[in-house]
Amino acid sequence: MTPLKINNFSHMKTIYFYLLTGLLALGVISCNSSNARNNDNNNNPQSSTTTNFEKVALPYETDALEPVISQQTVELHYGKHHQAYVDNLKKLVVGTKFEDADLETVVKESDGAIFNNAGQILNHNLYFTSFKKDGGGEPTGRLGEAITEQFGSFEKFKEEFNAEGGAVFGSGWVWLAKDDSGKLSIHQESGGGNPITRGLTPILGFDVWEHSYYLDYQNRRGDHLKEIWKIIDWETVGQRY
Ligand SMILES: [Fe+2]
Repeated sequence: MTPLKINNFSHMKTIYFYLLTGLLALGVISCNSSNARNNDNNNNPQSSTTTNFEKVALPYETDALEPVISQQTVELHYGKHHQAYVDNLKKLVVGTKFEDADLETVVKESDGAIFNNAGQILNHNLYFTSFKKDGGGEPTGRLGEAITEQFGSFEKFKEEFNAEGGAVFGSGWVWLAKDDSGKLSIHQESGGGNPITRGLTPILGFDVWEHSYYLDYQNRRGDHLKEIWKIIDWETVGQRY
């Protein structure tokens, strides 16, 4: 009987060992699962926190561009439309290779919804910093000289630019851009297009989406394009050339 007791005791120890090991293993697995969940939460936020996709600060008061662009249009265009592009892009890039990319890289390398929203952030940052209170006049310096040399005169350049802007079908942009040699060109872009996708540097872009002028000019896009030259900040725009 004694050997049997010894064997039973030994058997019980073996069972106890495996039971303890099993519980420890379960504890470890449970702990790892908890950590994995926490890591998943940290790696999959609902919206990217990068600062690469922000709106540029508005360099004037929202009523500064009146009567060419009303305060209401600036507040809606900058405050709502532009903000929506930023909010959309920050959600769209989560989990993609663009999550921490700079804005221009995203515009050059993306397509679909990511491109549309990234393009519009870049476009509107350039657009809203192209104006100032009591702007207008004519470009001076290197840009002014290049426009006169390549288009004949500033007036001829404006005519061509407005004609291209007026002819954009639907929502889009008209851009003045330069290549690496300084050669200027005018381009129509649909949607959120920007000439950087053609390897060019954007100098000046007019937004011809209806949200940019409809409250002030209704369907008269041409009138809006004629007036907008009165608020151009040529010093800032000239620095892009
Ligand atoms: Fe716009």
